[in-house]
Parts: sequence; C-alpha cells; structure tokens
Amino acid sequence: MATERLLLLCLVLFSSLLLLPRHASAQKPGFVSLDCGGNGNYTDELGLQWSSDDGLMFGETTNISVANETRRQYTTLRHFPADSRKYCYTLGVTSRTRYLLRATFLYGNFDNNNNVYPKFDVSVGATRWSTIVISDANTVESIELIFLASTPNISVCLSNATTGRPFISTLELRQFNGSVYYTPSENQFYLSVSARINFGADSAAPVRYPDDPFDRLWESDTLKKANYLVDVAAGTRKVSTKMPIAVNRDEMPPEKVMQTAVVGTNGSLTYRLNLDGFPGDGWAFTYLAEIEDLLPQESRKFRLVLPGNSDLSKAIVNIQENAQGKYRLYEPGYTNISLPFVLSFRFGRTSDSTKGPLLNAMEINKYLEINNGSPDGDVINNVVYLNPLADWAKEGGDPCLPVPWSWVQCNSDERPRITKISLSDKNLTGNIPSDLTKLSGLVELWLDGNSLTGSIPDFSGCPNLEIIHLENNQLTGQLPSYLGDLPNLRELHVQNNMLSGTVPSGLLNKNIELNYSGNINLHEGGGRAKKKSMIIGLSVGAAVLLIALIAAWIFMQRGKKKHSDQGALAVQKVVSGLSDATAEGAHYFTYSDIIEATKNFEKKIGSGGFGVVYYGKTKDDKEIAVKVLTSNSYQGKREFVNEVTLLSRIHHRNLVQFLGCCQEEGKSMLVYEYMHSGTLKEHLYGPLIQGRNTNWIQRLEIAEDAAKGIEYLHTGCVPAIIHRDLKTSNILLDKQMRAKVSDFGLSKIAADGASHVSSIVRGTVGYLDPEYYISQQLTDKSDVYSFGVILLELMSGQEAISNENFGINCRNIVQWAKLHIESGDIQGIIDPILGDEYDIQSMWKIAEKALMCVQAHGHMRPSISEVLKEVQDAISIEREAKATREGVSDDMSRTSAHSSLNTDMGGGADNFLSLGDSMARPTAR
Ligand SMILES: *[C@@H]1O[C@H](CO)[C@@H](O)[C@H](O)[C@H]1NC(C)=O
Ligand SMILES: *[C@@H]1O[C@H](CO)[C@@H](O)[C@H](O)[C@H]1NC(C)=O
Ligand SMILES: *[C@@H]1O[C@H](CO)[C@@H](O)[C@H](O)[C@H]1NC(C)=O
Ligand SMILES: *[C@@H]1O[C@H](CO)[C@@H](O)[C@H](O)[C@H]1NC(C)=O
Ligand SMILES: *[C@@H]1O[C@H](CO)[C@@H](O)[C@H](O)[C@H]1NC(C)=O
Ligand SMILES: *[C@@H]1O[C@H](CO)[C@@H](O)[C@H](O)[C@H]1NC(C)=O
Ligand SMILES: *[C@@H]1O[C@H](CO)[C@@H](O)[C@H](O)[C@H]1NC(C)=O
Repeated sequence: MATERLLLLCLVLFSSLLLLPRHASAQKPGFVSLDCGGNGNYTDELGLQWSSDDGLMFGETTNISVANETRRQYTTLRHFPADSRKYCYTLGVTSRTRYLLRATFLYGNFDNNNNVYPKFDVSVGATRWSTIVISDANTVESIELIFLASTPNISVCLSNATTGRPFISTLELRQFNGSVYYTPSENQFYLSVSARINFGADSAAPVRYPDDPFDRLWESDTLKKANYLVDVAAGTRKVSTKMPIAVNRDEMPPEKVMQTAVVGTNGSLTYRLNLDGFPGDGWAFTYLAEIEDLLPQESRKFRLVLPGNSDLSKAIVNIQENAQGKYRLYEPGYTNISLPFVLSFRFGRTSDSTKGPLLNAMEINKYLEINNGSPDGDVINNVVYLNPLADWAKEGGDPCLPVPWSWVQCNSDERPRITKISLSDKNLTGNIPSDLTKLSGLVELWLDGNSLTGSIPDFSGCPNLEIIHLENNQLTGQLPSYLGDLPNLRELHVQNNMLSGTVPSGLLNKNIELNYSGNINLHEGGGRAKKKSMIIGLSVGAAVLLIALIAAWIFMQRGKKKHSDQGALAVQKVVSGLSDATAEGAHYFTYSDIIEATKNFEKKIGSGGFGVVYYGKTKDDKEIAVKVLTSNSYQGKREFVNEVTLLSRIHHRNLVQFLGCCQEEGKSMLVYEYMHSGTLKEHLYGPLIQGRNTNWIQRLEIAEDAAKGIEYLHTGCVPAIIHRDLKTSNILLDKQMRAKVSDFGLSKIAADGASHVSSIVRGTVGYLDPEYYISQQLTDKSDVYSFGVILLELMSGQEAISNENFGINCRNIVQWAKLHIESGDIQGIIDPILGDEYDIQSMWKIAEKALMCVQAHGHMRPSISEVLKEVQDAISIEREAKATREGVSDDMSRTSAHSSLNTDMGGGADNFLSLGDSMARPTAR
C-alpha cells in the first residue's frame, strides 16, 4: 500500500509541481523538465530544474556514456519492451494554454545491440506525432510540438517498435503566454516543429533558455547535418549587432537570435533544406530586423521566391519600413502554406533596391491533424479514476489509439469504440462502474473474479453484448430482465454471487450459455422454465416488468440529475473557455470596460458604413475609439472573436491600430487607437475652418502615408487585403498629422448596414470603382481607383460627389477633374485655399497619376506602389520648391532637385519618361 501511494505521488508529480509553491518557486512556472531514467532533482547550468521520472511504473532505466555529452539528463534513459503495448507519460497542463512539448532521444547504444538501431513511434494522446529513427548512437534526436491544451493533462506514448527497443531521454514542457503561436485552427491541428533556424549564428550551439524565455531551440545555421541549409548563394555574409532589438511582438524570437543575420551581398540569399514531416500544409514565418546601417540613399527591398509558387513572390519586404524603424522585429509569413519535403527558397533583391536581402531567423511548423481518439475515452477514464492505484489504470493516453490498453480491445472505426473489457481477477471492489454501461459498442465484458458488490447495472444500451462474465463476485439484487432481451447475447456467467429473485424467463428461453449457480437466493421462477405454464410465465413476466419499470424510473431520475449538472458545467465551460480564447487572439474588452471607458457611449466622434464611433479612455489613461458595428455577420461570439483576431495581426505605422473587441448586449464592438486629429475629410471640408490650413506638402505627406498603409494591405499581408472602402473619412490623422488608414479588413466581419444588394458590391458612391461595380470582380485596382479620387480631392479641396460645384451635368469629381486636366487647365481645379504655395510640377505629377488611377479598366491603372513612388517624387519636388520660394536657395537647388529626382527614380525608362512628360506639360500649356 505504501509503495503504491509513493508511486501515485510520483505519477502526479508533474501536477503537484504546480501545486506545491515551495518547489514551484525554484522552477520557472509552466516548465516541466523530466530526466527519463534519472535519479533525484537537480538544476542544470542553464538554470532549468530537472526531476526524475521515477514515478513511472513501466520500463527500465539505464546509464549510458556518450563522448562529448556531459549533460546529466543525457547520461540516463528509460527503455521499454518491444511489445505490442504503448508506454505513456502523463503530464499535467493548464487547459486553454499553449505549450511547447519536446521529447529527446540519445541512444548511446544502451542495449549493446550492434545489429539494429531502434525505430518506434511517439504519439500525443491518440495523435501519432512522429516516428523516431535512430541513425547515430551519439547524436541527440529531438522532436517538438506546439499545442493548445484542451484537457488537464496530456500523454506522450511510445509504441510500435519496428526495430530495437523504444526509449526516451528527456521530456520537456514549456508554457507559452499571450497569443504566441495562435492559429485559427488550433483545435484541429497541432504544430509539429520542422525547422527553427537562427541565421548568422555565432556558433553551432542552439540559442535557447534563458535567451529564449520559452526555451525554444533556435538551431544554428552553421550546424552540419545532412541536407540542412545547403546551396548557399555566393556573396552570403554574416552580420551582427550588439544593439537591443525590439522583439516584444507575436512570436517573440529572442533578441540574441535577431542580433545576427545573413545578407545576400550579391542580391540573393538561397537555401535548401529538408523539412521533417512535409510535404504538407504548414505555418512558416521569417523574422527580420534591420541591423545594418543604411545610408539615406540606400534601400533594402526584396521578395521571397519559392519555385512553383509565383503568387508568393508578390509581397515586397522593406524591413525598416514594415517594422517601423531600425532594430525592430518584422515578422512576415504564412499561417497556412503548402510546402514540399525538400524546400528550396530564395530571397531576391528588387531592381530598385541598393542592398541585398537580409534574414535573421525563420520557423516552419507542420499542421498535424489532431486525432480525438476513441469517443469512449472520457467514459472509460471515469472507470480508471475509480481505481487510481491499480497498475491497469496507469497505462495513460487514449484507450484505443495508437494501440489499445492491455485490458481493452477496440474496433477499427476511424474513431474506435471499445469492444472488450478484460478486468478479470483485478481485485476490483465497489459497484460495477455504471460508466461501463455507456460503452455502446461493447461486445465482451469480463469482470469475473473480483470483489464487486451491489446490483448489476443496466447494460441495455449495449446491444452488441455477446459475452458477459460476472462470476465470482459479491453481486446482490435481481438478475435484470433486459438481459433476456439483449439480441446478441451468447454467454452469461453470474455464478457464485449473492443474487436473489428469479431468473428472467427471457434468459431461460434463450439458447445461450447460462450459469447462475451458487447464488443461494436466485431461483428459476415457479419451476423449470421448460415446463412453465403460460400464466406463470405471464405473471412472472409482469412482476419483472413492474420491477424493471421502477428501476428504470429511478435510473432516469438519477440520470436526469446528472445530466442537468453536466449541462450547467458545460455552460460554465463555454463561458470560461470563451474569455480564455479571446485572451489568446484579439484582446477582449468586457462590456463594463467599454461602458466605463466611453462613459456609457457619451461622446460620439464619428459614424460610417460600419457603425458609430465613440470616444473612450481606458483605466490606464489610453485614449480609444470604440466602433459599434451596425451589424455583423458573426452571430457567435467565438466566430466574431476569431475573425477579428486576424485584424490584431495586422500592424503597420500607417494603419490604425486595432486594440481589441467586445461582443455583448447584442452589440459587436471594435476598439482602436484614438486618432486625435480626426479624419482627412474633416480637414478638407469640415467646419473647422481654422484647421483647414493643410498646405500642399502636408496633403502630399498624408497621401504618402495612406498609400503606404494601402501598399502594406496589398503586398505585405497574405492573403492580400483589399480595403474596398477607401475614402477621406477613412483616413485618420494623429497629433502630428501623420495619416493612418482605418476600417480595413472589416468587409468580412461587418455586414453592410444599408441593404442586401449593396453588401455584394460594397463601397461608397463617388469612390466606387465602376469596373468592380459592373463586374463584381474585386481586385486591388479597385482600391487604386478610390485612391485616385482621394488624390483629386487633395488637389482640389472638392468632395467626391457634389450637386453644385462641378457645373451642369456633372456631379462627379472624376469627370470634372479629367475634363480640366486633359485640356491642360490644371489651375482650374486647384484648391484656392492653397494660394500659390505649391509647385506646379508636383501638382502635375499628382494630377496625372490620379487620372491613371481612375482609368476605366483595372489593368490600365498603376499599382499602389507605383502611385506611392509618384507621391514621394512630388514631395521631393515640393520640398525643393518650397526651399526656393522661401529664398533659402537659388537656382542651384532646382538643378540639384532634378538630379536627385533622377537618381531617385532608378525604376527605369517608364518612370523617367513620365517625369519628362509631366515636366514638359506646364510649359506646353
Ligand atoms: C523532486 O522535486 C519534486 C517537486 O519539485 C518533489 O515532489 C520530489 O519530492 C523531489 N524529489 C526528490 C528526490 O527530491
Ligand atoms: C546509474 O548511475 C547512478 C549514479 O551514477 C547509480 O546510482 C545507478 O546505480 C546507476 N544505474 C545503473 C542501472 O547502473
Ligand atoms: C569530441 O570532441 C573532440 C574535440 O572537440 C573531437 O575531436 C571529437 O571528434 C569529438 N568526439 C565525438 C564523438 O564527437
Ligand atoms: C488527468 O486529468 C484528469 C481530469 O482532471 C484528472 O482527474 C487526472 O487525475 C489527471 N491524471 C493525471 C495522471 O494527472
Ligand atoms: C508501425 O510502424 C510501421 C513502420 O514504421 C508502420 O508502417 C505501421 O503503420 C505502424 N503501425 C501502427 C499501428 O502505427
Ligand atoms: C509572456 O512571457 C514573456 C517572457 O516570459 C514576457 O516578457 C511577456 O511579458 C509575457 N506576456 C504576457 C502577455 O504575459
Ligand atoms: C489482489 O489482492 C491480493 C491480496 O491483497 C494480492 O495478493 C494480489 O496480488 C492482488 N491481485 C492483483 C491482480 O492486484
């Protein structure tokens, strides 16, 4: 008994780690490091606390010795028999939390088997995780998995030894926090780690804890192993910095990893490597931070090129721009991408970039479909928990998968059902567990030779039962009549119990193997069944029926109670699960947070197609804007939160920052950073006349900012985001008059407020791409059209649609401006407020580009990146001109403006020609 207690203590050691604060204080919270086969507790040189797995009652431990491997956890291992069973570790975890799970294997020739290396499978619960193939006695094999815990414990099982004996060296659990490694499909897929690489590493040793607070292993790119980072492009150089790097976002790669990188000095970085577990669908991210000093005229822009995947090559990376500064993390990647086993990739410099590509780190994980295991798992675990001390109850993992427990058999359904329970002679006491009656696929039940008491429960819900062995127990009560109705019953053994009453006639009449001897008070009803009269049979039948009805009624009452309890529990779970889930993705504001922050929606600061916006201030004095959606297409809170979670992953200096959401009281709300200076629309046409002092250069800067935001949506997000509703009221300004685009990514979440029809084509009259309106084919060029309208508004100070200002038969800024510009009368449309504080050349540049943007057909319009370039050119012209106007410079500066423009172009003849054109135009007028 005492030893059993001890074993149990050790078995639940992992959960007790979390429960015993005295021990926990030394250990990093959420870390479990199990030294398999080790003895005693100790702290290693990294500061990780190891404990031995001596609570595990299976397997044997061995000491090994491997040259150059001095870490204590690799001097021991635990190995298991090469049989048909599985051997499981069960680790306590916190539900609704993400973890990194790592298992490592150092063979060290522990079995002195010179013929074969071990090969066996490792599974997590019912999900097959990996096949461990040892190919070198002295190298540590390591597998890692990222998972969201959905139950209070997780099992890691070794099984299916095809050669040698299964063994394990360490088992490590590392808890993540925040939204690290959140994926929308994490309830269906684990992430199995295939590659996590630190480029430009100082040494071959991986970067890990304490540099990485989650103790991920960032493998060095200098590590030598087969098919690992080969085909490196000529001109690849290491760079590094000692400067701190801002990494506190999303996946939080360690600073030390980000401080080193490789640069393709010849314009390319190329690599090839084998991806464990692929081909398949995966999650792949690169981690980038600008750590070199670029001169003002230098730029670093590049694209990823994956052979056979030309779509991916569209996104242009400009680290400094995307990360909003130097020494800051930018994390482009794909949450769902199909990758081959042999991955070749290239980062190539764009033609207008002066510097080659740079890469600090990358990470590739494979989606591993979660197998939910046997639907009987919960039920049979309830039986197991009743007997925590028994060895048969400690096998762990799923009852059926990947192989069944030693005392269980299962069918071959995709989600297997338990068909046989063999618990003969196991010293069972108490009642026959009522949970066994819920195993609806049960065919054989062997509970003989125990000390079971109480009555025989109702197995009528198990119609496949063929064989029942309950003999040699201390069962009391009646032999239930339903037994006679089990259609497939072949064998029933209940001898040597303390059953009473009569044997149901249904049983006596059946052609089955029946033994009920040794039950002193159990009789055949009214004599031999074979001779019984109709009347006796009926009356016995009626009595039994009555008893059965009463029993059934009692059972139903109990069942009901249980059900309603479970119901309450389930509701509680959903509610708490929800708040947890939201904490992982988008930040979830409670309704009371919102009420408090907005002082019960006191100050309305705007309204638009998606809803009304209110001003708010959170407890920590952060100013926020709360958008109450008119309606949303996600009725369920969880769907809503999942959807807006994607918004929280979009970060760019020129996009209004999304802070979180709330869906309560029938309202769906999105919370954004508050933008002090309101919308561009207010600045151009609003009543705040004294605020209408935006000069031309400020307007150009606003256009530049907005274009950058849109460019990011089009090229920096995968899949690309088309805004669909660009307009001056969706361009917001901060205190410094920097512009940010708002309302992106909403078209999916918010159903259109107006009408059913307009939810198909959405957008605002005056900004709506006519081609999209007709064809309903949405492309990024629809946003370019809207942006062209915005450029015309910036020039003219006219609204997109007006009944008066555009003359007879013209309500639309596009028609009006086109007429003027094409006839050379640009002055006729320039906002009078600008006075003569502008340079006509920059004005022409914008006018021409705006007209290109509003071309009838999308394919004739420029990309937003080309438009951005033109706006930037206009800004340089304007700055030079302004300097001249203010007498700071003379004619010399104008010349230099031209030459700097020309070098700036770099883009080629097209741009140069259009520059020539636009410069020629004013004089030709
Ligand atoms: C090892 O540590 C665990 C918890 O940290 C504790 O329960 C256990 O008793 C320790 N074992 C030894 C041998 O000190
Ligand atoms: C393994 O080594 C430890 C300490 O070095 C020792 O106490 C233990 O007996 C050894 N176990 C075996 C199986 O040799
Ligand atoms: C152990 O390290 C030494 C020196 O670093 C090296 O020469 C030797 O090859 C290594 N042995 C093994 C088995 O890796
Ligand atoms: C696993 O979780 C269940 C459910 O809370 C718990 O009852 C059981 O004791 C745990 N098992 C172990 C081995 O920690
Ligand atoms: C056992 O391993 C072999 C070889 O790796 C594999 O083909 C087989 O499917 C595995 N069996 C099970 C039940 O997983
Ligand atoms: C998550 O953990 C990291 C490292 O331990 C810490 O820096 C960060 O503040 C934590 N974030 C949250 C949201 O708890
Ligand atoms: C049942 O209990 C007896 C006495 O306590 C013990 O000798 C026997 O080994 C136990 N059997 C099993 C299967 O646990």
